Amino acid sequence: MAIPFKISAPHTTLTITTTTTILLLCLVCAADQSTIHRPIRPFRSVYAFGDSYTDTGNTRSDSGPSGFMFVSNLPYGRTFFRRPTNRYSDGRLVIDFVAQTLSLRFLPPYLDPKADKSSGVNFAVAGSTAIVHSFFSKNNMSLNITPQSIRTELDWFDKLLLEGKGCRDSVTTPEECARVFNDALIWAGEIGANDYAYSFGSSVPTKTIQELAINSVTSFLEALLKKGAKYVVVQGLPPTGCLTLSMYLAPSDDRDSFGCVGSVNNQSYAHNVALKAKLRLFRKQFPKSTIVYADYYNAYLDVIRNAEKYGIKNLYGVCCGYGNGTYNFDYFHACGSPSSTSCGNPNEYVNWDGVHLTEAMYKAVADLFLNGTTYMQPPFSYLLSKKLKSG
Ligand SMILES: *[C@@H]1O[C@H](CO)[C@@H](O)[C@H](O)[C@H]1NC(C)=O
Ligand SMILES: *[C@@H]1O[C@H](CO)[C@@H](O)[C@H](O)[C@H]1NC(C)=O
Ligand SMILES: *[C@@H]1O[C@H](CO)[C@@H](O)[C@H](O)[C@H]1NC(C)=O
Ligand SMILES: *[C@@H]1O[C@H](CO)[C@@H](O)[C@H](O)[C@H]1NC(C)=O
Repeated sequence: MAIPFKISAPHTTLTITTTTTILLLCLVCAADQSTIHRPIRPFRSVYAFGDSYTDTGNTRSDSGPSGFMFVSNLPYGRTFFRRPTNRYSDGRLVIDFVAQTLSLRFLPPYLDPKADKSSGVNFAVAGSTAIVHSFFSKNNMSLNITPQSIRTELDWFDKLLLEGKGCRDSVTTPEECARVFNDALIWAGEIGANDYAYSFGSSVPTKTIQELAINSVTSFLEALLKKGAKYVVVQGLPPTGCLTLSMYLAPSDDRDSFGCVGSVNNQSYAHNVALKAKLRLFRKQFPKSTIVYADYYNAYLDVIRNAEKYGIKNLYGVCCGYGNGTYNFDYFHACGSPSSTSCGNPNEYVNWDGVHLTEAMYKAVADLFLNGTTYMQPPFSYLLSKKLKSG
């Protein structure tokens, strides 16, 4: 069978200049040799958006997506925090590694009123969609789904910017907005996977979902760029056909060369192609902003291809599940429920609970994003050098 999608990483036309490399190296030596233990902080804050792959606690067991209703219970959080933190993993997510790499605190969830939000906020909500919720209700797809969309997250951000910082937009309040965005990294985590999942089996064609989802993400990004967002990372969709739930649900002959669900991977792949095209337009329209595409799809497949290197042994089954079957997954005995159990070593697994990934997998992907030069286009080091040059 032919490989239905292109797996090689697209070439980036940007290269890191020698100056950049030296700047970065010197940052590292300064950090190492410094006797005062002052961490290097390229950004004062990070604002993150997205769904359960990025949510650091806006959701709880009783508000999360149906099917994964035990996020406030152990063994969620068992590896790193050693307690549940309402993150859908056994430990840290990609956004947590981003915060650590930038020497910032873990991002507090927006909905926690007591949290210290001085170095950023996380607006991501598990189960949220790119398309507004009313679309799903109108089309009878609202069965227990999260009411928030990326638009809700943008509204929350607008409120925070206006109330706390006097920033409305770059035309009416240019100084206030510059004060926020000159030192802020915007991290747009993956969003849209839920849109395809919720509409699965409905009468709405996938192509329509894609158009609407891309339009929503585009309006969201445009709104941020118009406010003056200067440093923006946009994650694409992961290969959702490789998630345990997809493999558990799809007929066993719907598989691609990775052994993942071909039709589902195709959807995510096509979504990413459309997203990247929009980002190219934004780079022309907003030349003062640095817009980076984080290629989750190919980074994920890179880890699968080189699993041994990462100490990963189980690519498709879940660590936390039930039944000991092919995938150790059972929709009616989800991770965290009294009947579920979790494996001895989550670090040997890609998948944690059927849809969400283990800390080990998030770390591997974060490493490829932040330390590598292939899966961020342009590379993260390029974004950092832009920031350092502009002070
Ligand atoms: C949604 O369900 C209602 C009641 O079953 C039905 O009347 C309506 O036509 C459905 N709408 C769509 C868009 O399928
Ligand atoms: C995936 O998409 C390609 C074209 O982009 C198509 O040829 C192939 O049949 C699709 N595979 C599946 C399993 O849908
Ligand atoms: C799965 O295997 C474990 C360990 O062998 C065992 O304790 C457990 O009862 C099994 N669970 C089911 C549902 O068969
Ligand atoms: C990036 O590389 C540094 C140095 O090797 C390492 O300490 C850090 O953990 C890596 N970051 C991630 C997210 O893996």
